[in-house]
Amino acid sequence: MAKRGARFVCQNCGGVTGRWAGRCDACGEWNTIAEETEGFEAAGGIGAAPRGLSVSARRGRVFPLVGLGGEVKEAPRIASGLAELDRVTGGGFVKGSAVLIGGDPGIGKSTLLIQVSAALASQGHRVVYVSGEEAVAQVRLRAERLGLAGAPVALAAETSVEDILATLQSGPTPALVVIDSIQTLWTEMAEAAPGTVTQVRTSAQALIRYAKSSGATIVLVGHVTKDGQIAGPRVVEHMVDAVLYFEGDGADRFRVLRSVKNRFGATDEIGVFEMTGLGLAEVANPSELFLGERDGRTPGAAVFAGMEGSRPLLVEVQALVAETSLGTPRRAVVGWDGSRLAMILAVLDTHCGVRLGSHDVYLNVAGGLRIQEPAADLAVAAALVSSLSGVALPRDSVFFGEVSLSGSVRPVARADQRLKEAERLGFARAVVPKANLGDESSAMPADGVDVLADLVARVAAGSEEIIARPRRGAPPAALAVAPPTLASTARLPAPPRAAQTGRGPR
Ligand code: TYD
Ligand code: MG
Repeated sequence: MAKRGARFVCQNCGGVTGRWAGRCDACGEWNTIAEETEGFEAAGGIGAAPRGLSVSARRGRVFPLVGLGGEVKEAPRIASGLAELDRVTGGGFVKGSAVLIGGDPGIGKSTLLIQVSAALASQGHRVVYVSGEEAVAQVRLRAERLGLAGAPVALAAETSVEDILATLQSGPTPALVVIDSIQTLWTEMAEAAPGTVTQVRTSAQALIRYAKSSGATIVLVGHVTKDGQIAGPRVVEHMVDAVLYFEGDGADRFRVLRSVKNRFGATDEIGVFEMTGLGLAEVANPSELFLGERDGRTPGAAVFAGMEGSRPLLVEVQALVAETSLGTPRRAVVGWDGSRLAMILAVLDTHCGVRLGSHDVYLNVAGGLRIQEPAADLAVAAALVSSLSGVALPRDSVFFGEVSLSGSVRPVARADQRLKEAERLGFARAVVPKANLGDESSAMPADGVDVLADLVARVAAGSEEIIARPRRGAPPAALAVAPPTLASTARLPAPPRAAQTGRGPR
């Protein structure tokens, strides 16, 4: 039998070292290394032998090797009945699969899962909900408040993996098992203290093995660390079949369920929910929601016609550019990639003469949404220039297009769907990459730009046309020389609607 000794495991990344150190060499985090006793789990893998079985205790079994071709049974799925959830999982939970759902505390993971459990149980599936965080009474109270108390969900408040597995194996195989949360579980198979990486990993491994062998779908809830990753080693993410993140701004009602890994479906789909007094409600038309409260008169706001998976989604990008009072200007981004913003600022500086080196830049995506598409570049640039110049963009325009380092505007995929969605929501014009002009089949007039400087010039020109400020002929660089303060623009008269819509497509 292999010698079992102490080893030191980073509680952040799962890296193992032979001695204690203040800083983990693997991930660079401080104070995350803890001593753990080596258990069987070092063997790893779904089929790992239980502890105590030494490697040489049994001879290997010969298993048949097969070819890639051959009959494939379509993965059988159980549709949850919540269309937004099914969209993210790729059509429902796959039998025998393990799904990890992560998200900040209070975002609504337990609420979503109790709703799913009740929906499936009401359809006649056997559903077991194991809460390690809340007492039975608390879960019941929540179910009562959601009007789900009548659903035949089998409920327990338990944290011992051995007890949970014994209970699951004693009855008919459930269709769905919810474990809320994986961090609260502990198992005797690992000798580490509860809550450590080893415990989380070993517990997850045992449950996933149960899912694979029984055909039940296991949903594990995972806590998220302060930098937004599922706590515990990344290894748990590698072990499960799908990883979903439930995100949203805690203060906002909107919640987005995003799949970051899915062995049985696409990973770019999102599901949108709204937290109401009666639990999570599905939002079938998220664009309307994310555009909700626009007045169209604020400089620095641009509507981005984006795609989330197979679905077009319109969302407002807000920028605030203000002269800095610090030595180093601030760049703060919510909902977008900070390095992408730095890139746009550099392109604006180098190729368009828009200098923001002495300005703080704040960028926010409305509604708590996180955009990952490079197609948002053009909308971000428009919002930045609009904020800097203090001039609102026409409220009936949408923007999309990818900006390259050379300052050119590159075409994006599915321009057609983006324009259709914009048209459906009452937008009248679009600023798009020139190379996308051929694709659209919608009736909406689209303005093609092929270099970013062109967009900057248009926003500046728009300012003259819309608010008749004497800036005609000034190069775009002038924008950076004397930006009007926001206080002064707040007093500007609202642009007359006719002046905005009267401009036809170019
Ligand atoms: P919860 O599902 O407990 O979050 P998590 O499991 O991710 O920690 O959600 C709790 C939050 O949701 C809490 O702040 C209250 C809110 N909530 C509602 O607004 N309406 C409801 O019907 C429910 C059940 C919760
Ligand atoms: Mg919870």
